[in-house]
Parts: sequence; C-alpha cells; structure tokens
Amino acid sequence: MPNQSGLLDLNSIEISEITDLFFFAETLQKNFKEKKSLNYKDRYRGLTAALLFFEPSTRTRFSFETAAARCGLHPLVLSGSEGTSLEKGESYEDTILNIQAMGPEVFIIRSSEELDMAAIARRLSRPVINAGWGVLGHPSQALLDAYCWTRYLESAQKKNLQGQRLLIVGDIRHSRVAASHRELAHKLGYEVAFCGPADFLPLVTDVKTFSTLSEGLGWCTAVMVLRVQLERHKTKIPLTEYIHNFQLNADQLKYLNSEAPIFHPGPVNYGTEIDCQILSDSRNQILHQVESGVWLRQALILKTLEGGEL
Ligand code: CP
Repeated sequence: MPNQSGLLDLNSIEISEITDLFFFAETLQKNFKEKKSLNYKDRYRGLTAALLFFEPSTRTRFSFETAAARCGLHPLVLSGSEGTSLEKGESYEDTILNIQAMGPEVFIIRSSEELDMAAIARRLSRPVINAGWGVLGHPSQALLDAYCWTRYLESAQKKNLQGQRLLIVGDIRHSRVAASHRELAHKLGYEVAFCGPADFLPLVTDVKTFSTLSEGLGWCTAVMVLRVQLERHKTKIPLTEYIHNFQLNADQLKYLNSEAPIFHPGPVNYGTEIDCQILSDSRNQILHQVESGVWLRQALILKTLEGGEL
C-alpha cells in the first residue's frame, strides 16, 4: 500500500487509498497548470530519491524522475549495469544496501524476478515502490492506466470504472501490466478479459478469454494492447500470423465501441501489435497514459512519504 512501507503490489491497497491517490494526482495536475506553488518542495529540498532501474525503461524511469523532481527531491538514477559496480560482480542487493547508506528518502526499483524485491524491501529503512518487477507486476502502471481511464470516463460524463470491461490483447503470459490489472480490477470493479493466441495466454487463469479479436472487441468497453515481448520468449514467434489475427488495425476497429478508449502501456511496436492508423483515432489514449503517469507517480511518492498531506 502507498504509505511508509511503499508499494510492491496492489493486493493490499485499500479502495479508499486508490480514490485518494486519484484525487491527489488530479489536484497536483490542476495546481501545476494554475502555477500554484505547494510547500512540499521546500520540505524535500536537498533530499534524494533513488531510482534503481536494473532493467530497461523509458516511460517509467522518466516519469518517476519528473515526479520526484516536481516533489523537490533530487532523483539519483541508476540505469542498467553499464558504468556501475554491477559490472564488477557486485550483487543487486549489495548495490541497494550501499545506496541506502547514502540516505535516500525512497527507493523506486525496476528489476527482473532475479531480485527478490519484497525481501530487499524488508531490509531497507525507507519505502520501496515497484517500478516493474519481471513478469510479477507493475502496480504504478496499472494505477496510472486506471487514473487515465477514469478521467476519460469523467470527460464523457460517466462516473467511474465500476462495471467497465477491459480487454487486454497480446502477450499476456509475459505481461506484468496484465498481472497488476488483474489485482486492480478486483478493487475498482472493472472486469478484465484476455485475447491472444494460446501460447500468449496464462497457463492457468480464471479470467474470461477470447480467441478472436473481433469477439473480444465486441465485448469490451476499453481495449489495452500489449507489446509482443520477444526477449522473454524461449522459441521464435511467427509474427506474420500474430499480426494477421491479433493486430489492432482499421479492419478490427470497426468492432470496437465508438467511445471505447484504446490503451497501450508502451513501448509500442507500430506495425506489429497495433497499426499506426491508431495514432489519428480519437479513442487513442497512449500519450494521455504517459502524461497521467507523471501526476499519478508524483501523488504516489508524496503519499508514500507522508500520507499525502499537501
Ligand atoms: N510502460 C512501461 O513500463 O514502459 P517503460 O518500459 O518504457 O518504462
């Protein structure tokens, strides 16, 4: 949960905390637009946030970096192993413990499952925010998606996510984003269904699945397309067949409700899981997700540090 103990997953977060977080993110966004100065910047001046990205990232790293800077925290960024003592054989755990000795206020960590993030979090005196942990979860991504979706619904005079239906299309078996949406859907009352070739679906799941994209698009009120994570597959993936059956393109879009938002957590491989025609579709929310991510993550950092008092 987003308090002094940080955020490793979404199982233990309370619904009221999520609502609070969304309200907080919206307030930060509004205040920034209105150039209102808030006093937390003075509180954190001279203090640091440790952003330890042991796996590649663009959106999550930059948005947490922006969020930390807007809180007044100086972001200390480790990005990959190059140029660090990981190259000399130092372990992830020892790296983190050494950085703790330098006194950051919060740890924001992206890693593979090779690092036991939960175990290291118990050894640290400061909170840990999971910024993507192997295939296990990406809680801040699911939260920002839901925040972005909520705002989209509000602009269409529809109140919240209760009863909404999210179709997640693509490489779900390797998706930490899909894993976190399963956790979040239980809290916020939206339903999740999966769509993709059998090899991409989780081996065991109690989630509704669609084997054809047109059927899934006809069912949902929002669609989220995922990248094919070639780097996590042990065998070669026949992409031509995948594109033919599951690419979201103009032919398939006719099955999607005219008001249903289109999400993608990124990075996007245009021409594979999604066609670039989506860029001009009014339902495309991809860059709104990125923008929402900064506010949601700033709210998350502040709430983690001090319960959210502005
Ligand atoms: N959505 C997401 O996690 O993107 P990055 O890998 O670029 O951070």
